[in-house]
Amino acid sequence: MTEKANIGVVGLAVMGSNLARNLASREGNRVAIYNRSVEKTNQLTADHPEANFIASESIDDFVASLSKPRTAIIMVQAGTGTDAVISQLTERFEKGDIIVDGGNALYTDTIRREKEVSAKGIHFVGAGISGGEEGALKGPSIMPGGTKAAYASLGPILETIAAVAEGEPCVTHIGSDGAGHFVKMIHNGIEYADMQLIAEAYDMLRQAGGFSPDEIADIFSEWNKGELESYLIEITAEVLRQKDSKTGEPLVDVILDAAGSKGTGVWTVQTALDLGAPVSGIAEAVFARSLSAQHAQRAGKPELPAANQVWAVEDKPAFVEAVRRALYASKIIAYAQGFDAIRAGAKEFNWEINLGEVAKIWRGGCIIRAQFLNRITDAYRKDEKLLSLLFDDYFVAAIAGTIASWREIVAMAALTGVPSPAFASSLSYYDGLRAKRLPAALVQGQRDFFGAHTYKRIDAEGSYHTLWSGDRSEIKTD
Ligand code: 6PG
Repeated sequence: MTEKANIGVVGLAVMGSNLARNLASREGNRVAIYNRSVEKTNQLTADHPEANFIASESIDDFVASLSKPRTAIIMVQAGTGTDAVISQLTERFEKGDIIVDGGNALYTDTIRREKEVSAKGIHFVGAGISGGEEGALKGPSIMPGGTKAAYASLGPILETIAAVAEGEPCVTHIGSDGAGHFVKMIHNGIEYADMQLIAEAYDMLRQAGGFSPDEIADIFSEWNKGELESYLIEITAEVLRQKDSKTGEPLVDVILDAAGSKGTGVWTVQTALDLGAPVSGIAEAVFARSLSAQHAQRAGKPELPAANQVWAVEDKPAFVEAVRRALYASKIIAYAQGFDAIRAGAKEFNWEINLGEVAKIWRGGCIIRAQFLNRITDAYRKDEKLLSLLFDDYFVAAIAGTIASWREIVAMAALTGVPSPAFASSLSYYDGLRAKRLPAALVQGQRDFFGAHTYKRIDAEGSYHTLWSGDRSEIKTD
């Protein structure tokens, strides 16, 4: 009898087949593969005869081809398909076996599934996997949740396929049940913000600086050598250099300006609203995609009153540097807000998430990988309980070095009518965070006026209400 597989993959669309190939390429792994329609399985084995696969045409054969504890990674489109495969596997798996969901599942679904599956003694691990098709094949960043016991068995396998950053695999046990998918969701939220910020920087360079897409590509390539070094900056330069094969125009000018989404950014914002975590940069990025997609409305009235000023850039190198600084500062805010949201989620769901470890496994493989994640790792290593990334010495200095340019760029964009929702909201968040007093005191007064919602005082304990429609004296309510 042939040797059994130590791991299996169900779902062989591009992410699943690439992950299966990645697994099979690592020493010591034998990979069981199964797809609902057998054509995909046949295609994969035909294209990669060298791969150490055991292909099955039925779920029964797939399960039988796995050594114990059986471990199967589900790579199907998140949603009902995932539930269907989970129930097929739980019917056949035994106590101690491990089901991994490697899709972009909503963390609350993962919490529910973990409860249901673990009630049968089977481990369920919701694992966020980032890096797109290439990452799945060559080394993604992996964010597994589930129990420590499941990770003890699964972790060493995942470590063989994860990206490596500074000698360390980009995978760690994030926390119990839905913690892995929660962190992947926030990763995607940061991804949205990062992409929107880069897009706004591009827009300013193009509209105000008058640079061509090729010139902006060169600017981004240059930026990619410094503190902004990241995968997203790198690929942006490539996108901007691309010419349309039909017209010869820059591809970016031919692509319809309506951004799509699959939902993880929306989930991040919905979740953050529930948690009271102000992820304003991420929210603006999600809304910017929504506005872009409202083509009919945007075309509805072309001649709306416009800007008061023209952005006349005289010193182009200085302008480019100011945009770079503003982008860097806004990007720091996006990460700071994302990490805050993870902390808020961890508190709500009783997950012990080590933020420094999260930053560490985002240094390689994932879409938001960036050089400055090393600095985030250092910040949390120095102080695990850091109240905000923005309070770490490195980031205090980084913002200090950008603040003048950041304000100037946001102000100029506003004066000249270049939409910059993510830049502007990031700066406002920063100013809100550092303000000694916020006008929230007035909001409390208003709430008390019309709804007797009460307010607290700065100089005494308890809640108070002013008798607004009476003699306007103050009463203590508790
Ligand atoms: C990743 C990506 C990946 C996917 C997003 C895209 O980390 O590899 O985030 O998960 O590309 O889902 O999301 P939108 O389609 O919503 O932009």
